[in-house]
Amino acid sequence: MRILIYTGKGGVGKTTVSSATAVLCAELGYKTIVISTDPAHSLSDSLSRKVGKYPVKITDKLYAQELDVNEELRLNWDKIQGFVVKFLSYQGFDRFIAEEFAIFPGLEELFSLLKISQYHDQKSYDVIIIDCAPTASTIRMLSFPDIVSWYMERFFPLERKLVKTIRPVAEKVVKFPLPSDDVYAQVEELYKKIEHTKKILTDVKKSSVRVVVNAEKMVIKESQRAYTYLNLFGFPVDLVIVNKIFPEEIQDKHFKKWKQTQSKHIETVKEAFSPIPIKISFLQDDEITGLDKLLKFAHNLYGDDDPTKVYYEGKPIQVEESNGRYFLKLKMPFFTKKELNIWVKNDELIIELPSFRRNIFLPYTLASAKIKEATLKDGILTVEFEKTKEG
Ligand SMILES: Nc1ncnc2c1ncn2[C@@H]1O[C@H](COP(=O)(O)OP(=O)(O)OP(=O)(O)O)[C@@H](O)[C@H]1O
Ligand SMILES: [Mg+2]
Repeated sequence: MRILIYTGKGGVGKTTVSSATAVLCAELGYKTIVISTDPAHSLSDSLSRKVGKYPVKITDKLYAQELDVNEELRLNWDKIQGFVVKFLSYQGFDRFIAEEFAIFPGLEELFSLLKISQYHDQKSYDVIIIDCAPTASTIRMLSFPDIVSWYMERFFPLERKLVKTIRPVAEKVVKFPLPSDDVYAQVEELYKKIEHTKKILTDVKKSSVRVVVNAEKMVIKESQRAYTYLNLFGFPVDLVIVNKIFPEEIQDKHFKKWKQTQSKHIETVKEAFSPIPIKISFLQDDEITGLDKLLKFAHNLYGDDDPTKVYYEGKPIQVEESNGRYFLKLKMPFFTKKELNIWVKNDELIIELPSFRRNIFLPYTLASAKIKEATLKDGILTVEFEKTKEG
């Protein structure tokens, strides 16, 4: 069982690459489902078939689904939502605002994830391919397990057992409602599901996140930021796909500059995502819709590869905190410290070596920090950061 998640900035070709990969996987004999978690679904257009909120059989081995999370939301959140609304109404919040607050941004994305883990557990498919919403939502979706803990700890600071004991007395004394036992049951159930989902999605052997980019400055910047966060949350990125590259046969003078810019940015992508492997896919002479075109596109993209293979294992970037000290660890095999030049510019860490330059977007916690020390040992570069007072 493999789960392949395709993410990237808006319009780069996520849906096209996801459905093309799915068509190829099915062709290779894997029972495959491609699921869109983007509320602005476009799988139907891409596959040129009607796709609905339940899995639809497209070919013998290929299924597709445009996820509707409302059902999941009702199933996993109704009691929690009811309590949060009650709690906020007690605090004087308008009921309408309280209801909005109880379904906060990102929740839908979380329930998409839970659905994916359900398919994983049912073992109904060999390959699950996820066509994500543009990057920002994906990051929110993947970082959600951590955010939901934050939210829960604020709304449910007391333990279920304790509340069970004190409720009869406490409710007469305190001026706010305490969650009932079935609310706690739902919270606990949700935590279990989130933990389980996170385990599946951070397992290198099972899941891979693939970043689709175009050779354009702004697209690369946004994707790099996403890449840092994916690393931080432990989601294994194993491939970067640079889509819409002008093919050799375009020799028109009008595109000369564009082609130079693209070549330059292919190098930028290599530097930014190294050591993650990179694949190039070319701009076709028309939109890529329908199974035939998708299959051809996938063959060109993957060559003789089986797209379910794990292209890269390992964690290229890790951030650790210990007693208020922050360490960023990076794999840098083949170099010595003497050759290394390292500095922070705005919110990027720049690492320069002979014939090699890398920039890494720093997470918010480190963006205002200064480098205290950098050491290179056993092929791992460790950068210690010192947080400034205001940082
Ligand atoms: N290599 C390519 N050659 C030609 N057209 C392409 C290529 N890749 C994608 N397209 C076309 O570009 C358009 C956008 O692609 P797609 O819908 O896959 O992007 P997306 O990243 O999923 O967008 P969104 O962020 O809106 O979901 C589509 O019309 C698609 O057919
Ligand atoms: Mg799309």
